[in-house]
Parts: sequence; C-alpha cells; structure tokens
Amino acid sequence: MTLRVAIIGMGGIGNNHGRCYTAHPGAEVVAVCDIIPERSDKAAETFGCQGFYSVDALLASGLEFDAASVTTAGVENGGDHYTPTMQLLGAGYPVLGEKPISNNIDEAAAMVALAREKNLRYGINLNHRFTPAASLAKEWQLRGRLGEINMIDMTMWINNPNESSPHFHARALHPHSLDVMRYFAQSDVKRVQAFFKKGKGRAIWSNMQMNLLYENGVIGHLRGSYDGNFGAAGTYGLETLEVVGSEGRFILRDACEELTFYPRFDTQLERHENYGGMSHFSQTFQSRIGHWIDQNLALVSPEKIDASGADALNVQRVIEAAIASWESGQVIAL
Ligand SMILES: NC(=O)c1ccc[n+]([C@@H]2O[C@H](COP(=O)([O-])OP(=O)(O)OC[C@H]3O[C@@H](n4cnc5c(N)ncnc54)[C@H](O)[C@@H]3O)[C@@H](O)[C@H]2O)c1
Repeated sequence: MTLRVAIIGMGGIGNNHGRCYTAHPGAEVVAVCDIIPERSDKAAETFGCQGFYSVDALLASGLEFDAASVTTAGVENGGDHYTPTMQLLGAGYPVLGEKPISNNIDEAAAMVALAREKNLRYGINLNHRFTPAASLAKEWQLRGRLGEINMIDMTMWINNPNESSPHFHARALHPHSLDVMRYFAQSDVKRVQAFFKKGKGRAIWSNMQMNLLYENGVIGHLRGSYDGNFGAAGTYGLETLEVVGSEGRFILRDACEELTFYPRFDTQLERHENYGGMSHFSQTFQSRIGHWIDQNLALVSPEKIDASGADALNVQRVIEAAIASWESGQVIAL
C-alpha cells in the first residue's frame, strides 16, 4: 500500500515534507495546497500532483488521499495551523502538523481533542529525537545502562533575528528541546521555574533558562537562545543533551552527530560519531516523516503515534508555565 498525502502550506518546510514523502517508497504526494497561488502552482509542478489554493477546494475536489501534512506557520510560527488542521481532522484525515502545535494552548487542545474524538492519528514534526543516535541512547536507557535517571540538561540554540513577539523564542523553538527531555525523563513536568533575558539590541526574550521537576523526581535544566549558533562556518552547534543516571551518563551532540557514554564506575568511554550514518540535523525530517508514514501504513492506533499531538500539547503547556514563572516570579505547578 502507498500512503497518498496532501501537503498544506508550501513554504520551505512544506516543500521539505514533499521531498521526504517522495523519497520514501511507501508514500506519494497527490496534492499540495497554499493560499498563495504561485506557491501551490510551483509545488504542484515540483511534485507532479494537483495544486489547490484552499483546503475547502481540496476537500470539495473528491481527490482521494490518506493523510495530510500541515506545514503552515503564522504568529510565533504556529498561529496558522489551527484552521486547516481542524478542517482536515473534521473531514476524517490523519494529520502530521508542524511545531509548535500552536502558539495558543486552547487551539492546540481543541485539535488534540478533535483527533481523539474522531480516533485519528495526529502527529507533530518533533523531529529531533528521530535519530539513530537518540534511539541507541534510548536502548541504553531501557536496558538499564544509565541506572536510575537523576538529571537531564539540555541546550538548544540557533540564530533567529526575527523580533515578531516577546515569547516567540520559547514558543517556537522549545517544543523540540522539551520533547527530547520528556522522552528521556519518561515523565511529565510537575513544576517549572524560568528566567528570561533579551539579547543585545533585541526587543524579545531571546535567551532563557528553565528548571524542571518531573513527576518521577528527575530534575532538568534547559538553556535556550535565538542568539546562538556559535562556531566557524559549518559548525552549527545546535544542541547538547546530557542525561545523567546512577550508573552512567551520556552526552548527545547536535541530535545525531556525537554520542558518548560515560560509565560511572569505569574509565572506558563508548563514542559514536554520525551513528547509523546520520550526520546532520537536516536528515531528521526524513527519519521523522518516514516513521509517520510507516506508522500510518501499519495502521497503528492513534494513541501509539510517536511524537503525537498530545505530546506536543504537553510540552507547549510547559512553555506557557515557564512564561508564567518569569512573569510572576513564582515556581509554577502544572
Ligand atoms: N520541525 C522542524 O525542525 C522545523 C524547522 C523549521 C520550521 N518548522 C516549522 O514549519 C512551519 C512552516 O515553516 P515555513 O518556514 O515553511 O513557513 P512559511 O511561512 O514559509 O510557509 C507557510 C505557508 O503556509 C501557507 N498557508 C498559511 N495558511 C494556509 C492555509 N490555511 N491553507 C493553505 N496554505 C496556508 C502560507 O501561504 C505559506 O506559504 C512552521 O510552523 C515552523 O515552525 C519546523
């Protein structure tokens, strides 16, 4: 069976999704859609499929498809996802949305609720943990090699000079980091405290440090910035994850590039570079979307979808709690 896909929102990321579906033997792009006609026309030509200028027109066309990607953007990179996602879920189609699930918690919750009500698969492109190195680290964790997890530290930063809104940085970037941390914490956040700082010459809170207490007692710390991206040209330095357990710890750099295990009671390290052949973050789109395709073809039940809408809503609530912490000076309970 081939998964026939429609893509809504043909900016850079929609076209990226299109290339990932096309490269996968189990999927085919059958429709693209953008409210900017030239974007739809160009993508229709690129992917050799039908182009539409609205979701209404796509749904009215009678064209058969099995699932959709919603790669719109909007305010804080998430404000436009709601309308097309509700239209598609309402019409009975599984959706893979972009992150943030939404910059508005009520709208995010409504999308998750509709998917649940309709029993539809709803995934979000939280792609950072879909790497062979993260899978290997997870395998170590599950086999007990780390022991009991005590602490998780993460840094994620990029250069983003966009000054669109005060908390754009936290809402748009940190669904990724918090999702990775939650994946390894194996627990939900219970309490949050955060401080923010505006970068030099900036109007928005482009730097942030967050302290987290998970329900299972794991403690976490997150550093984030839109004034990051350090190093010489070609050295991205996107993210660093450190998971510390009673028997050992690992450090995973740049999602896939460098994974090192440090045993607590031994001196022999285990180091992997570009494990599984993945050498750059950009490759995570193919692996995450490939996994979404595979889960749809396998007809997994909606609650088994990895990096689901519900997972994305969960971390978005942590971001809102961090903002509330900064604004109130309090530790916020979730
Ligand atoms: N997962 C990742 O690693 C990652 C990386 C970068 C960006 N993103 C996310 O990808 C998303 C898209 O980013 P982009 O840079 O391609 O944005 P973009 O603004 O370039 O493209 C979005 C497109 O959606 C179209 N659109 C908006 N509403 C529509 C609707 N109702 N129907 C049809 N088309 C509609 C717009 O006209 C636009 O062409 C954002 O949410 C962003 O946060 C994810």
